[in-house]
Amino acid sequence: MTGNFTVNGKDLVFTFNGDERLLFTLRNHGFTEVKNGCLEGECGACLVLLDDKPVNSCQVFTASVRGKGIKTVKGIGDLHQPHIIQEAFVEAGAVQCGFCTPGMVLASYALLKSNPNPSDAEIKNALDGNLCRCTGYVKIIEAVRLAAQRMQESGGHHE
Ligand code: FES
Ligand code: FES
Repeated sequence: MTGNFTVNGKDLVFTFNGDERLLFTLRNHGFTEVKNGCLEGECGACLVLLDDKPVNSCQVFTASVRGKGIKTVKGIGDLHQPHIIQEAFVEAGAVQCGFCTPGMVLASYALLKSNPNPSDAEIKNALDGNLCRCTGYVKIIEAVRLAAQRMQESGGHHE
């Protein structure tokens, strides 16, 4: 079947199987920044924003989200124009193998949009569904704190 989707602001038509999960549809269409970790909704590597809400794309049927807006990590910034959160992750040493990073960054982005000045407990809670095998989480929490501070300094001008 086919369906219309808006991914990172671009209107696209995807072809997919009836029981296909959004993770595979996105990867099959070149959005390989969406990672395949556990396929069980446990790790957050496949997280995307669906109409601005974080969801694990391995748990979503593509057919059920036709017409919706999807954001992958490249939709908030890339190597040439990184988002403040992405810069903060690099600076805080919160990226090691990088496998969890797209999901972590998007979960942080969703958190900071709704709560620009989160406590450590709120950060931990927001990232609860995202697993990282490398960093021990401390640096990730530092990165989110740093990003929150910088986004506030920038007066909320940074999307
Ligand atoms: S791959 Fe989707 S939550 Fe792990
Ligand atoms: S940096 Fe390797 S899993 Fe998080």
